[in-house]
Amino acid sequence: MESAEIRRRWLRFFEERGHTVVPSASLVADDPTLLLVNAGMVPFKPYFLGEVKPQFSRATSVQKCVRTLDIEEVGKTTRHGSFFQMCGNFSFGDYFKEGAIKFAWELLTGSVADGGYGLDPEKLWITVYKDDDEAEQIWRDVIGVPSERIQRLGMKDNFWSMGVPGPCGPCSEINYDRGPAYGEEGGPAVNGERYLEIWNLVFMQYERGHGDGKDGFEILGDLPSKNIDTGLGLERLAAVLQDVDNLFEIDTSRMILDRAAELTGHTYGADHKSDVSLRVVTDHFRTALMLVGDGVTPGNEGRGYVLRRILRRAIRNMRLLGATGQVAKDLIDISIKAMAPQYPELETDRKRIETVVVAEENAFLQTLRSGTNLLDAAVTETKAGGGVVLSGEQAFKLHDTYGFPIDLTLEMAEEQGLQVDEAGFRRLMQEQRDRAKADAKA
Ligand code: ALA
Repeated sequence: MESAEIRRRWLRFFEERGHTVVPSASLVADDPTLLLVNAGMVPFKPYFLGEVKPQFSRATSVQKCVRTLDIEEVGKTTRHGSFFQMCGNFSFGDYFKEGAIKFAWELLTGSVADGGYGLDPEKLWITVYKDDDEAEQIWRDVIGVPSERIQRLGMKDNFWSMGVPGPCGPCSEINYDRGPAYGEEGGPAVNGERYLEIWNLVFMQYERGHGDGKDGFEILGDLPSKNIDTGLGLERLAAVLQDVDNLFEIDTSRMILDRAAELTGHTYGADHKSDVSLRVVTDHFRTALMLVGDGVTPGNEGRGYVLRRILRRAIRNMRLLGATGQVAKDLIDISIKAMAPQYPELETDRKRIETVVVAEENAFLQTLRSGTNLLDAAVTETKAGGGVVLSGEQAFKLHDTYGFPIDLTLEMAEEQGLQVDEAGFRRLMQEQRDRAKADAKA
């Protein structure tokens, strides 16, 4: 089933069940606590908190999302992607646990002929929050999932919040067993690659305060009403329904991957290292396209830096694959071809998007040309002296003279088996800032 069809079925299913279809918001979050929209619920946050009264009590959307926290994992695992689409259904004080669980089961296991996704119920495993007897009981007694396929997990896995003060609640995840080819058995509690999480149902009923990590915060109290926030990873479900190994091989990504392989003369699947680079290129070009499409331009801080880093990682991976010339226009064009059926505005905006991306590529190639020699010299010198760490001074010089961001130095050094004295680098940066301040004062 194609991605566009997964999306159509999602929206139709929930619309037929009384949900208002809300178009995806821009990736540029209208929320001071976030750089970019990273979950389907972000545009609805004021409704959950009771700050604004919604015009509907049920909504559904397919929201564009970007998450860059795991950026180093992209391409190495089969399930991390920096851009993805989160299909969601939301209840604002309307249905709660039982309603959400029933909808999810019906849509996932309903036959394709009847508008469902036709998944085999025997392959679905459920996790619930450790204290959530009610959710477990619904899965077991109302839906009929055998107890052996329901697992209880703690805060880290089954309690959801935005990572900052705001709405939160226990959650229940639906995971698909991809079979022994993906590793040991034992359910999602032991193996997240084999038991792929596809859908998270959050029972949004509390408000959380400040604190770190996934469990280091206080629950301040109840929200004005009990709500539902769910998120199904469209790309993950597409991987299951299209029977491909990972996110980068589904219909909307594969064209980009094939083009990158063609441009560099590689065959996908021939060797692991090149495969990882091809996946990074695929993921990052798609993400860059969606960010530029929503008006982000490359820069040195905030969203602009996220875009710059992604685009530069993609271009560098093309060079690792052997590309010597410019590749950005070609890859952004194929990315538009892959995504425009779902986002037609990308087609109308093509000229602007190409201009932004090509200008960034030119700037980066210039940086690489001047900085790579210095980096190579530093690597040779360090290795010759028997060292394994590039000095803070060397990293600082690369940054100060050639505009090499520290992330790039770290990655390029790692490829040569070296570490970087990052603390030393940061100290020198701070000294430079202090000097600049003192000068300004003087
Ligand atoms: N907000 C929930 C998530 O992002 C559904 O997983």
